[in-house]
Amino acid sequence: MCGIMGYIGKREAWPIVMTGLKRLEYRGYDSAGVGTIYKNRLRVAKQVGHLSALDRSYPEGLPGNVAIGHTRWATHGGITQENCHPHVDPGRLVAVVHNGIIDNAEEIKEALQKEGASFRSETDTEVLAHLIARELEEGRASSLVEAVRAALLRIHGTAGILVLSRLEPEVIVAARIGSPVVLGISDEETFIASDPSALVGHTTRIVFLDDSEVAEITARGFRTIDLQNRLREKRVEQIEFAPDEIALQGYRHYMLKEIAEQPAAIDRTLRGRTDMTSGTARLGGLKELGRRIFDFGRITLFGCGTSLHAAGVGQFLMERYARIPAGAEDAAELRSRNPIVSQDNLYVAISQSGETADVLSTLREIKMRGGMVAGITNMVGSSIARETDCGVYIHAGPEISVASTKAFTSQVTALSLMALLFARMRDLPAHEGREWVGGLNDASNEVHAMLVHRDRIKALAEEYCRSQYVMFVGRGISYPVAREGALKLKEIAYIPCDGLSGADMKHGPLSLIEQDSPVWAIVPPDETRERMVGNLQELKARGAAILAVAAPEDEEVARLAQFVIPLPPHHPACSPLLTVVPLQLFAYYAAVALGRNIDKPRNLAKSVTVE
Ligand code: F6R
Repeated sequence: MCGIMGYIGKREAWPIVMTGLKRLEYRGYDSAGVGTIYKNRLRVAKQVGHLSALDRSYPEGLPGNVAIGHTRWATHGGITQENCHPHVDPGRLVAVVHNGIIDNAEEIKEALQKEGASFRSETDTEVLAHLIARELEEGRASSLVEAVRAALLRIHGTAGILVLSRLEPEVIVAARIGSPVVLGISDEETFIASDPSALVGHTTRIVFLDDSEVAEITARGFRTIDLQNRLREKRVEQIEFAPDEIALQGYRHYMLKEIAEQPAAIDRTLRGRTDMTSGTARLGGLKELGRRIFDFGRITLFGCGTSLHAAGVGQFLMERYARIPAGAEDAAELRSRNPIVSQDNLYVAISQSGETADVLSTLREIKMRGGMVAGITNMVGSSIARETDCGVYIHAGPEISVASTKAFTSQVTALSLMALLFARMRDLPAHEGREWVGGLNDASNEVHAMLVHRDRIKALAEEYCRSQYVMFVGRGISYPVAREGALKLKEIAYIPCDGLSGADMKHGPLSLIEQDSPVWAIVPPDETRERMVGNLQELKARGAAILAVAAPEDEEVARLAQFVIPLPPHHPACSPLLTVVPLQLFAYYAAVALGRNIDKPRNLAKSVTVE
């Protein structure tokens, strides 16, 4: 969703801010803008559409050594020039860029209008510009940071903001109320962004603002206070970004690059975390749980979208191997049910970005009720990583494409480690633990073996991409994989589809099957195979064209299917890591064949930071 980038230093700020915003493009946006101060005047450039449109409208950029920029994902008000950020007050004293939503904006706006204020945009952010400017104009605040702090005390909602004022041309004020803001520290220059990936190549010294903090930033450093004006000590953290990690490296799209990176990402998730001798996992981030692992009577995993599908695999592994009752829940639904939180329930929040609003609010609700929440995230220092009691980083590396691929397989790997740890502490014999460790250690090679089928899957995608409907079917551990396959195809190729369990299919969706309707069937050689073969017979009898992912020696499946992607030998708990790969490739190549915008599908954002 919206992205923020700011710069203050000795260099021209425009190109730095534009490059940072380009790095945040993957989050999804519909308009962009930049504000600078030059010769004590505020200058603002805005444009609807891509950053390239802004570049075209301002080929010289705006001059100045200080700038704030924003990519907007419309929430309050349509996609218009007036609604683009930065927003300024009528006296052009301050400019504000804002991520988040101000819940009481209408109320404040009405009150200000009664006092004669007029507004140019339909946004909630403009209200903030008015409030900050008034603090300065009416003399209640003697500095910009003071004015921002006072204004923030009047709003309810979420706000990651950057503010410029022509009264203090050598300062940017940043604040975080719910929505992430990070500072990048360098010599004689400071960078600010909503996501550390925008800072790649500038610095590796990062400061994460905590909730309800306001920072007064200059080229030489920063000072942080809380909303009560108390000084806050901040730690500078070292984050290693490799600039090539966010480059396309010869791939046509990030999605394909990230699919291909899965073996390496799985290895990174596993690195140093398996113990073959004891047949268990070592997860430093879960040390906190200690012996409580014996006592948990239930595990509730929650997330959204792809992360929810990873939770579905985690649920299966926890129940099957650790023998703990487990559930996988849509984060928003879990919260809206007024959840019954108990002490013997472990909650696990799963999120690639670590910023998904529904996951964050649910974890806060659970913690507020005394529940224990572990996190599984990719983004170091993200809100979910910071607010959970303990957790596991997946170390998948930056995921730029909106469609999540390598995060899914790394999340499943991390959940496997967690389930293995729990299983070994409770019930699983050592030799079975060792077999599982062996399976995990072999997984990256097996995923490689699946990637080899790329060209055959491309041909299938080209053959079936004009279908009216595609069904994905799986059972047991493969059921969440079927759902993930369907999500990938609908989100990037825009083809209607369902991800169903073999049982579900018979209770209605079977009526959608016609002659040659494509059905992806996930049939690994596990306890669900026999039932799945029954389902395939029913599908075949109704004319379906079955595309199966199955063991190469499974002759029965080979007879029923039009085409089989063969699975290499693998541990049964690792099958989702393998079976999802052809489905990701099918979605990718179908979308390419249909000319879709692969890395930025319509209507979608990478990180959904509003509920
Ligand atoms: C699908 C996709 C989304 C995300 C969902 C959760 O490809 O990317 O469904 O999985 O928005 O995002 P995170 O994992 O960042 O919480």
